[in-house]
Amino acid sequence: MRTHAVEAELDYPKIVVPPPGPKAREVIKRDKRWTSTSYIKEYPLVVSHGKGPWVADIDGNRYLDFMAGIAVASTGYSHPKVVRAIQESASRFLHICGTDFYFEGFAELAERLARLAPGQSKKRTFLTNSGAEAIDGAIKLVRQSTGRPGLISFNGAFHGRTYGAMSLTSSKAKQKAGFGPLLPCVHHMPFGYCYRCAYGLTHPACRLRCVSEIEDGLFRRDLSPKEVAAIFVEPIQGEGGYILPPPGYLKALRELCDRNGILLVFDEVQSGIGRTGKMFAAELYGVEPDVLCVGKGIASGMPLGAIVAKESIMKWDVGSHGSTYGGNPVCCAAALATLDVVENELLGHVRKTGEALLLGLKRLQSKHECIGDVRGVGFMVGVEFVKDRESRAPAQSLVHELTQRAFRKGLLLLSCGQSVIRIAPPLVLTEKDIETGLQVLDECLTELT
Ligand SMILES: Cc1ncc(COP(=O)(O)O)c(C=O)c1O
Repeated sequence: MRTHAVEAELDYPKIVVPPPGPKAREVIKRDKRWTSTSYIKEYPLVVSHGKGPWVADIDGNRYLDFMAGIAVASTGYSHPKVVRAIQESASRFLHICGTDFYFEGFAELAERLARLAPGQSKKRTFLTNSGAEAIDGAIKLVRQSTGRPGLISFNGAFHGRTYGAMSLTSSKAKQKAGFGPLLPCVHHMPFGYCYRCAYGLTHPACRLRCVSEIEDGLFRRDLSPKEVAAIFVEPIQGEGGYILPPPGYLKALRELCDRNGILLVFDEVQSGIGRTGKMFAAELYGVEPDVLCVGKGIASGMPLGAIVAKESIMKWDVGSHGSTYGGNPVCCAAALATLDVVENELLGHVRKTGEALLLGLKRLQSKHECIGDVRGVGFMVGVEFVKDRESRAPAQSLVHELTQRAFRKGLLLLSCGQSVIRIAPPLVLTEKDIETGLQVLDECLTELT
Protein backbone atom coordinates (compact mmCIF):
# COMPACT_ATOMS: atom_id res chain seq x y z
CA MET A 1 0.00 0.00 0.00
CA ARG A 2 1.20 3.51 -0.78
CA THR A 3 2.20 5.50 2.26
CA HIS A 4 1.87 9.22 2.31
CA ALA A 5 4.25 11.84 3.55
CA VAL A 6 1.70 14.05 5.30
CA GLU A 7 2.38 12.10 8.49
CA ALA A 8 6.01 13.23 8.57
CA GLU A 9 5.88 16.70 10.14
CA LEU A 10 2.40 17.61 11.03
CA ASP A 11 2.89 20.83 12.86
CA TYR A 12 3.24 23.50 10.24
CA PRO A 13 1.91 24.23 6.76
CA LYS A 14 4.53 23.68 4.11
CA ILE A 15 4.43 25.12 0.62
CA VAL A 16 7.09 23.49 -1.55
CA VAL A 17 5.76 24.84 -4.84
CA PRO A 18 3.40 27.82 -5.16
CA PRO A 19 -0.06 26.32 -5.68
CA PRO A 20 -1.33 25.32 -8.13
CA GLY A 21 1.85 23.37 -8.89
CA PRO A 22 2.43 21.53 -12.18
CA LYS A 23 0.47 18.39 -11.26
CA ALA A 24 -2.40 20.45 -9.88
CA ARG A 25 -2.51 22.54 -13.05
CA GLU A 26 -2.95 19.40 -15.14
CA VAL A 27 -5.92 18.24 -13.06
CA ILE A 28 -7.50 21.68 -13.07
CA LYS A 29 -7.15 21.95 -16.85
CA ARG A 30 -8.91 18.62 -17.30
CA ASP A 31 -11.57 19.43 -14.73
CA LYS A 32 -12.32 22.77 -16.35
CA ARG A 33 -12.72 21.12 -19.73
CA TRP A 34 -15.08 18.34 -18.66
CA THR A 35 -17.06 19.33 -15.58
CA SER A 36 -20.26 21.30 -15.20
CA THR A 37 -19.76 25.05 -15.39
CA SER A 38 -21.75 25.48 -12.16
CA TYR A 39 -18.98 24.30 -9.83
CA ILE A 40 -17.53 27.07 -7.71
CA LYS A 41 -13.94 25.99 -6.87
CA GLU A 42 -12.90 28.46 -4.18
CA TYR A 43 -9.17 28.16 -4.86
CA PRO A 44 -6.94 25.77 -6.81
CA LEU A 45 -6.54 23.10 -4.14
CA VAL A 46 -6.05 19.65 -5.68
CA VAL A 47 -6.09 17.15 -2.84
CA SER A 48 -3.91 14.09 -2.72
CA HIS A 49 -4.52 12.86 0.84
CA GLY A 50 -4.98 14.01 4.41
CA LYS A 51 -4.65 13.13 8.05
CA GLY A 52 -6.37 14.75 11.00
CA PRO A 53 -6.79 18.42 10.09
CA TRP A 54 -3.90 18.33 7.60
CA VAL A 55 -4.31 18.09 3.85
CA ALA A 56 -1.64 17.44 1.21
CA ASP A 57 -1.99 18.46 -2.42
CA ILE A 58 -0.67 16.46 -5.32
CA ASP A 59 2.44 18.63 -5.64
CA GLY A 60 3.52 17.94 -2.06
CA ASN A 61 2.21 21.11 -0.37
CA ARG A 62 0.79 20.71 3.11
CA TYR A 63 -2.16 22.73 4.41
CA LEU A 64 -3.83 23.21 7.75
CA ASP A 65 -7.57 22.94 7.27
CA PHE A 66 -9.88 25.43 8.98
CA MET A 67 -12.94 24.49 6.90
CA ALA A 68 -13.21 20.65 6.84
CA GLY A 69 -14.50 20.46 3.26
CA ILE A 70 -17.40 22.78 4.22
CA ALA A 71 -17.84 21.59 7.80
CA VAL A 72 -17.91 17.91 6.88
CA ALA A 73 -14.66 16.11 7.78
CA SER A 74 -15.71 15.90 11.42
CA THR A 75 -13.22 13.27 12.54
CA GLY A 76 -10.50 14.68 10.28
CA TYR A 77 -9.23 13.19 7.05
CA SER A 78 -9.34 9.41 7.04
CA HIS A 79 -9.71 8.78 10.76
CA PRO A 80 -8.39 5.22 11.29
CA LYS A 81 -11.51 4.05 13.16
CA VAL A 82 -13.80 5.37 10.45
CA VAL A 83 -11.64 3.96 7.65
CA ARG A 84 -11.58 0.55 9.36
CA ALA A 85 -15.37 0.55 9.71
CA ILE A 86 -15.76 1.46 6.03
CA GLN A 87 -13.33 -1.23 4.89
CA GLU A 88 -14.98 -3.88 7.03
CA SER A 89 -18.45 -2.94 5.84
CA ALA A 90 -17.42 -2.71 2.16
CA SER A 91 -15.88 -6.16 2.32
CA ARG A 92 -19.28 -7.63 3.32
CA PHE A 93 -21.78 -5.90 0.96
CA LEU A 94 -21.96 -2.53 -0.78
CA HIS A 95 -25.70 -2.20 -1.19
CA ILE A 96 -29.05 -3.76 -0.46
CA CYS A 97 -31.49 -0.76 -0.27
CA GLY A 98 -32.61 0.03 3.24
CA THR A 99 -36.00 1.23 1.97
CA ASP A 100 -36.92 -2.31 0.95
CA PHE A 101 -34.77 -4.68 2.99
CA TYR A 102 -33.09 -4.94 6.36
CA PHE A 103 -29.55 -4.87 7.69
CA GLU A 104 -28.16 -4.35 11.14
CA GLY A 105 -26.26 -1.09 10.59
CA PHE A 106 -29.38 0.64 9.24
CA ALA A 107 -31.47 -0.22 12.31
CA GLU A 108 -28.57 0.54 14.63
CA LEU A 109 -27.93 3.99 13.15
CA ALA A 110 -31.65 4.86 13.13
CA GLU A 111 -31.85 3.97 16.82
CA ARG A 112 -28.64 5.80 17.65
CA LEU A 113 -29.80 9.02 15.99
CA ALA A 114 -33.29 8.78 17.48
CA ARG A 115 -31.76 8.42 20.95
CA LEU A 116 -29.20 11.20 20.38
CA ALA A 117 -31.67 13.75 19.01
CA PRO A 118 -32.40 16.53 21.49
CA GLY A 119 -35.42 16.27 23.78
CA GLN A 120 -37.28 13.54 25.60
CA SER A 121 -39.92 12.61 22.99
CA LYS A 122 -39.60 9.27 21.26
CA LYS A 123 -38.23 9.64 17.74
CA ARG A 124 -37.92 7.79 14.44
CA THR A 125 -35.28 8.17 11.74
CA PHE A 126 -35.33 8.29 7.94
CA LEU A 127 -31.89 8.00 6.32
CA THR A 128 -30.96 10.06 3.24
CA ASN A 129 -27.95 10.67 0.99
CA SER A 130 -27.50 14.36 1.72
CA GLY A 131 -28.62 17.36 3.69
CA ALA A 132 -30.86 18.67 0.92
CA GLU A 133 -32.57 15.29 0.63
CA ALA A 134 -33.24 15.38 4.37
CA ILE A 135 -34.76 18.86 4.05
CA ASP A 136 -36.93 17.86 1.08
CA GLY A 137 -38.13 14.80 2.96
CA ALA A 138 -38.87 16.94 6.00
CA ILE A 139 -40.97 19.31 3.86
CA LYS A 140 -43.03 16.35 2.67
CA LEU A 141 -43.34 15.03 6.20
CA VAL A 142 -44.52 18.29 7.80
CA ARG A 143 -46.98 19.03 5.03
CA GLN A 144 -48.53 15.58 5.13
CA SER A 145 -48.50 15.43 8.91
CA THR A 146 -50.25 18.79 9.41
CA GLY A 147 -52.31 18.89 6.22
CA ARG A 148 -51.07 22.48 5.80
CA PRO A 149 -49.00 23.83 2.87
CA GLY A 150 -47.22 26.87 4.37
CA LEU A 151 -43.51 26.93 5.24
CA ILE A 152 -41.54 29.66 6.94
CA SER A 153 -37.78 30.03 6.79
CA PHE A 154 -35.34 32.88 7.25
CA ASN A 155 -33.35 35.44 5.32
CA GLY A 156 -29.82 34.18 4.95
CA ALA A 157 -30.89 30.56 5.37
CA PHE A 158 -29.26 27.83 3.33
CA HIS A 159 -31.01 24.48 3.22
CA GLY A 160 -29.66 22.95 0.00
CA ARG A 161 -29.97 22.83 -3.77
CA THR A 162 -32.93 20.54 -4.51
CA TYR A 163 -36.24 22.23 -5.29
CA GLY A 164 -37.75 22.09 -1.81
CA ALA A 165 -34.54 22.96 -0.02
CA MET A 166 -33.78 25.69 -2.57
CA SER A 167 -37.21 27.20 -2.05
CA LEU A 168 -36.54 27.52 1.68
CA THR A 169 -33.09 28.96 1.00
CA SER A 170 -32.57 32.71 0.99
CA SER A 171 -28.82 33.01 0.78
CA LYS A 172 -27.64 34.15 -2.65
CA ALA A 173 -30.05 35.13 -5.45
CA LYS A 174 -27.75 33.33 -7.90
CA GLN A 175 -28.67 30.01 -6.28
CA LYS A 176 -32.27 30.44 -7.47
CA ALA A 177 -31.90 32.54 -10.61
CA GLY A 178 -33.59 30.99 -13.62
CA PHE A 179 -34.86 27.94 -11.75
CA GLY A 180 -38.38 29.11 -10.94
CA PRO A 181 -41.15 28.52 -10.29
CA LEU A 182 -40.05 27.32 -6.90
CA LEU A 183 -42.17 25.67 -4.23
CA PRO A 184 -45.24 27.80 -3.42
CA CYS A 185 -46.33 28.90 0.08
CA VAL A 186 -42.80 29.61 1.33
CA HIS A 187 -42.30 32.78 3.39
CA HIS A 188 -38.96 34.24 4.47
CA MET A 189 -38.56 36.34 7.61
CA PRO A 190 -35.54 38.18 9.07
CA PHE A 191 -33.25 35.96 11.16
CA GLY A 192 -32.00 36.86 14.65
CA TYR A 193 -28.84 38.49 13.32
CA CYS A 194 -28.00 40.99 16.03
CA TYR A 195 -24.88 42.43 14.38
CA ARG A 196 -27.08 43.50 11.47
CA CYS A 197 -30.55 43.61 13.00
CA ALA A 198 -33.18 43.94 10.26
CA TYR A 199 -35.20 46.20 12.57
CA GLY A 200 -32.27 48.34 13.69
CA LEU A 201 -32.81 47.24 17.29
CA THR A 202 -30.55 45.97 20.06
CA HIS A 203 -31.01 42.87 22.20
CA PRO A 204 -32.58 42.59 24.78
CA ALA A 205 -34.43 45.91 24.37
CA CYS A 206 -35.72 44.56 21.02
CA ARG A 207 -37.80 41.97 22.91
CA LEU A 208 -37.04 39.55 20.09
CA ARG A 209 -38.85 41.49 17.40
CA CYS A 210 -37.34 39.00 14.92
CA VAL A 211 -39.66 36.39 16.43
CA SER A 212 -42.69 38.50 17.34
CA GLU A 213 -42.86 39.95 13.82
CA ILE A 214 -43.90 36.51 12.55
CA GLU A 215 -47.16 36.82 14.50
CA ASP A 216 -47.51 40.59 14.60
CA GLY A 217 -46.58 41.12 10.96
CA LEU A 218 -46.73 38.02 8.75
CA PHE A 219 -49.71 36.32 10.43
CA ARG A 220 -51.64 39.56 10.73
CA ARG A 221 -51.16 40.81 7.18
CA ASP A 222 -50.32 37.95 4.84
CA LEU A 223 -50.77 34.46 6.09
CA SER A 224 -53.08 32.62 8.45
CA PRO A 225 -51.04 30.55 10.92
CA LYS A 226 -53.58 27.78 10.29
CA GLU A 227 -52.04 27.41 6.85
CA VAL A 228 -48.49 26.99 8.14
CA ALA A 229 -47.06 23.49 8.44
CA ALA A 230 -43.63 24.32 9.81
CA ILE A 231 -40.90 26.79 10.55
CA PHE A 232 -37.50 25.64 9.26
CA VAL A 233 -34.55 27.17 11.07
CA GLU A 234 -30.82 26.61 11.43
CA PRO A 235 -30.19 26.95 15.20
CA ILE A 236 -26.92 28.60 14.19
CA GLN A 237 -27.10 29.98 10.68
CA GLY A 238 -24.30 28.46 8.58
CA GLU A 239 -23.96 29.64 4.99
CA GLY A 240 -25.66 32.92 6.00
CA GLY A 241 -22.65 33.94 8.11
CA TYR A 242 -22.19 31.70 11.15
CA ILE A 243 -24.78 33.66 13.07
CA LEU A 244 -25.80 32.77 16.61
CA PRO A 245 -29.31 34.03 17.28
CA PRO A 246 -29.80 36.00 20.52
CA PRO A 247 -30.58 34.25 23.81
CA GLY A 248 -34.21 33.16 23.99
CA TYR A 249 -34.68 33.19 20.20
CA LEU A 250 -35.18 29.46 19.61
CA LYS A 251 -37.28 29.10 22.75
CA ALA A 252 -39.51 31.94 21.54
CA LEU A 253 -39.85 30.24 18.14
CA ARG A 254 -40.77 27.00 19.93
CA GLU A 255 -43.49 28.80 21.91
CA LEU A 256 -44.80 30.55 18.80
CA CYS A 257 -45.05 27.18 17.03
CA ASP A 258 -46.84 25.61 19.99
CA ARG A 259 -49.36 28.47 20.18
CA ASN A 260 -50.24 27.99 16.53
CA GLY A 261 -50.02 24.24 15.95
CA ILE A 262 -46.97 24.73 13.73
CA LEU A 263 -44.08 22.24 13.64
CA LEU A 264 -40.54 23.38 14.37
CA VAL A 265 -37.82 21.91 12.15
CA PHE A 266 -34.16 22.35 13.06
CA ASP A 267 -31.74 22.14 10.18
CA GLU A 268 -28.60 20.93 11.94
CA VAL A 269 -26.91 19.77 8.76
CA GLN A 270 -24.03 22.16 9.47
CA SER A 271 -24.30 22.76 13.23
CA GLY A 272 -24.82 19.13 14.27
CA ILE A 273 -22.55 16.17 15.10
CA GLY A 274 -20.34 17.84 17.65
CA ARG A 275 -19.45 21.00 15.77
CA THR A 276 -20.58 23.21 18.66
CA GLY A 277 -19.18 20.91 21.38
CA LYS A 278 -22.64 19.41 21.82
CA MET A 279 -23.92 16.65 19.59
CA PHE A 280 -26.58 19.11 18.38
CA ALA A 281 -26.66 22.90 18.73
CA ALA A 282 -30.27 22.60 19.96
CA GLU A 283 -28.83 21.28 23.25
CA LEU A 284 -27.10 24.61 23.84
CA TYR A 285 -30.49 26.28 23.83
CA GLY A 286 -32.53 23.56 25.58
CA VAL A 287 -35.12 23.45 22.81
CA GLU A 288 -36.58 20.29 21.31
CA PRO A 289 -37.55 20.49 17.65
CA ASP A 290 -40.33 18.37 16.17
CA VAL A 291 -38.10 17.40 13.28
CA LEU A 292 -34.31 17.42 13.05
CA CYS A 293 -32.35 17.33 9.79
CA VAL A 294 -28.78 16.08 9.87
CA GLY A 295 -26.01 15.67 7.29
CA LYS A 296 -22.45 16.82 6.58
CA GLY A 297 -20.26 15.61 9.49
CA ILE A 298 -22.42 12.61 10.35
CA ALA A 299 -20.36 10.08 8.38
CA SER A 300 -17.03 11.97 8.23
CA GLY A 301 -17.62 12.78 4.55
CA MET A 302 -19.38 9.66 3.30
CA PRO A 303 -22.74 10.70 1.79
CA LEU A 304 -25.40 10.39 4.45
CA GLY A 305 -28.11 12.52 5.99
CA ALA A 306 -31.10 11.92 8.21
CA ILE A 307 -34.53 13.16 9.19
CA VAL A 308 -35.15 12.46 12.85
CA ALA A 309 -38.73 13.24 13.85
CA LYS A 310 -40.94 12.78 16.86
CA GLU A 311 -42.71 9.44 16.70
CA SER A 312 -46.02 11.32 16.87
CA ILE A 313 -45.14 13.02 13.56
CA MET A 314 -43.23 10.39 11.58
CA LYS A 315 -46.29 8.27 10.92
CA TRP A 316 -46.43 8.42 7.14
CA ASP A 317 -47.82 5.42 5.25
CA VAL A 318 -45.66 2.58 3.99
CA GLY A 319 -44.29 3.68 0.60
CA SER A 320 -44.98 7.40 1.19
CA HIS A 321 -41.28 8.13 1.11
CA GLY A 322 -38.13 6.18 0.27
CA SER A 323 -34.63 6.33 -1.19
CA THR A 324 -32.59 3.77 -3.13
CA TYR A 325 -29.24 4.66 -1.61
CA GLY A 326 -30.28 6.56 1.52
CA GLY A 327 -28.64 4.76 4.45
CA ASN A 328 -26.17 2.85 2.30
CA PRO A 329 -24.48 0.15 4.44
CA VAL A 330 -20.95 1.55 4.06
CA CYS A 331 -22.19 5.05 4.92
CA CYS A 332 -24.06 3.69 7.95
CA ALA A 333 -20.87 2.00 9.15
CA ALA A 334 -18.96 5.26 8.65
CA ALA A 335 -21.65 7.14 10.59
CA LEU A 336 -21.65 4.71 13.50
CA ALA A 337 -17.85 4.92 13.76
CA THR A 338 -18.00 8.71 13.46
CA LEU A 339 -20.59 8.96 16.23
CA ASP A 340 -18.40 6.75 18.47
CA VAL A 341 -15.38 8.99 17.91
CA VAL A 342 -17.34 12.24 18.29
CA GLU A 343 -19.24 11.12 21.40
CA ASN A 344 -16.37 9.42 23.20
CA GLU A 345 -13.38 11.51 22.17
CA LEU A 346 -14.30 14.86 20.69
CA LEU A 347 -17.24 16.63 22.35
CA GLY A 348 -15.27 17.73 25.43
CA HIS A 349 -12.26 18.54 23.28
CA VAL A 350 -14.30 20.81 20.99
CA ARG A 351 -15.85 22.65 23.94
CA LYS A 352 -12.46 23.31 25.56
CA THR A 353 -10.44 23.94 22.42
CA GLY A 354 -13.25 26.01 20.91
CA GLU A 355 -12.82 28.49 23.73
CA ALA A 356 -9.15 28.88 22.83
CA LEU A 357 -10.16 29.42 19.20
CA LEU A 358 -12.69 32.11 20.12
CA LEU A 359 -10.23 33.85 22.45
CA GLY A 360 -7.49 33.77 19.83
CA LEU A 361 -9.81 35.28 17.23
CA LYS A 362 -10.95 37.98 19.66
CA ARG A 363 -7.29 38.85 20.21
CA LEU A 364 -6.94 39.23 16.44
CA GLN A 365 -10.05 41.41 16.46
CA SER A 366 -8.44 43.79 18.95
CA LYS A 367 -5.43 44.07 16.65
CA HIS A 368 -7.16 44.34 13.26
CA GLU A 369 -9.80 47.06 12.72
CA CYS A 370 -11.22 45.16 9.75
CA ILE A 371 -12.67 42.48 12.04
CA GLY A 372 -16.10 43.75 13.01
CA ASP A 373 -17.44 40.75 14.87
CA VAL A 374 -16.25 37.41 16.21
CA ARG A 375 -18.95 34.98 17.31
CA GLY A 376 -19.45 31.31 17.72
CA VAL A 377 -19.26 28.26 19.87
CA GLY A 378 -17.03 25.20 19.71
CA PHE A 379 -15.65 24.82 16.21
CA MET A 380 -18.39 26.87 14.57
CA VAL A 381 -16.98 30.38 14.67
CA GLY A 382 -17.64 33.30 12.33
CA VAL A 383 -15.29 36.23 11.79
CA GLU A 384 -17.10 39.10 10.12
CA PHE A 385 -14.99 41.60 8.17
CA VAL A 386 -16.03 45.21 7.68
CA LYS A 387 -14.71 48.24 5.81
CA ASP A 388 -14.88 50.14 9.08
CA ARG A 389 -16.37 49.33 12.44
CA GLU A 390 -18.70 52.30 12.47
CA SER A 391 -20.50 51.74 9.18
CA ARG A 392 -20.12 47.93 9.39
CA ALA A 393 -20.05 47.91 5.58
CA PRO A 394 -19.19 44.35 4.50
CA ALA A 395 -15.60 43.95 3.27
CA GLN A 396 -16.20 41.35 0.56
CA SER A 397 -13.04 41.86 -1.44
CA LEU A 398 -10.88 41.68 1.67
CA VAL A 399 -12.44 38.31 2.54
CA HIS A 400 -11.73 37.09 -0.98
CA GLU A 401 -8.10 38.24 -0.88
CA LEU A 402 -7.63 36.82 2.60
CA THR A 403 -8.92 33.39 1.58
CA GLN A 404 -6.65 33.31 -1.47
CA ARG A 405 -3.59 34.55 0.42
CA ALA A 406 -4.10 32.14 3.31
CA PHE A 407 -4.33 29.27 0.82
CA ARG A 408 -1.00 30.26 -0.70
CA LYS A 409 0.51 30.20 2.79
CA GLY A 410 -0.96 26.79 3.59
CA LEU A 411 -4.14 27.61 5.51
CA LEU A 412 -7.51 26.53 4.13
CA LEU A 413 -10.28 29.04 4.83
CA LEU A 414 -13.81 29.38 3.54
CA SER A 415 -16.13 32.37 3.51
CA CYS A 416 -19.86 32.59 4.10
CA GLY A 417 -22.46 35.34 4.48
CA GLN A 418 -21.52 38.64 2.89
CA SER A 419 -18.04 39.01 4.36
CA VAL A 420 -17.51 36.32 6.96
CA ILE A 421 -14.81 33.70 7.31
CA ARG A 422 -16.29 30.57 8.84
CA ILE A 423 -13.88 28.68 11.04
CA ALA A 424 -15.19 25.10 10.85
CA PRO A 425 -12.17 22.82 11.19
CA PRO A 426 -12.18 19.06 11.65
CA LEU A 427 -13.13 18.42 15.27
CA VAL A 428 -9.70 16.88 15.95
CA LEU A 429 -7.93 20.25 15.63
CA THR A 430 -5.57 20.86 18.57
CA GLU A 431 -4.71 24.07 20.45
CA LYS A 432 -1.32 24.02 18.75
CA ASP A 433 -3.00 23.82 15.34
CA ILE A 434 -5.17 26.77 16.32
CA GLU A 435 -2.10 28.81 17.23
CA THR A 436 -0.52 27.90 13.92
CA GLY A 437 -3.63 28.84 11.91
CA LEU A 438 -4.13 32.10 13.75
CA GLN A 439 -0.51 33.06 13.14
CA VAL A 440 -1.04 32.63 9.40
CA LEU A 441 -4.31 34.58 9.60
CA ASP A 442 -2.59 37.38 11.50
CA GLU A 443 0.23 37.50 8.97
CA CYS A 444 -2.22 37.67 6.05
CA LEU A 445 -4.25 40.46 7.67
CA THR A 446 -1.10 42.45 8.45
CA GLU A 447 -0.07 42.20 4.81
CA LEU A 448 -3.51 43.03 3.45
CA THR A 449 -4.57 45.98 5.61
C1 LIG B 1 -27.65 24.12 7.04
C2 LIG B 1 -27.58 23.32 5.77
N1 LIG B 1 -28.63 22.62 5.37
C3 LIG B 1 -28.61 21.86 4.26
C4 LIG B 1 -27.50 21.84 3.45
C5 LIG B 1 -27.50 20.99 2.22
O1 LIG B 1 -26.72 19.87 2.40
P1 LIG B 1 -26.18 19.02 1.15
O2 LIG B 1 -25.17 19.89 0.45
O3 LIG B 1 -25.60 17.79 1.77
O4 LIG B 1 -27.35 18.73 0.29
C6 LIG B 1 -26.37 22.56 3.82
C7 LIG B 1 -25.16 22.55 2.98
O5 LIG B 1 -24.32 23.40 3.05
C8 LIG B 1 -26.40 23.32 5.02
O6 LIG B 1 -25.34 24.04 5.41
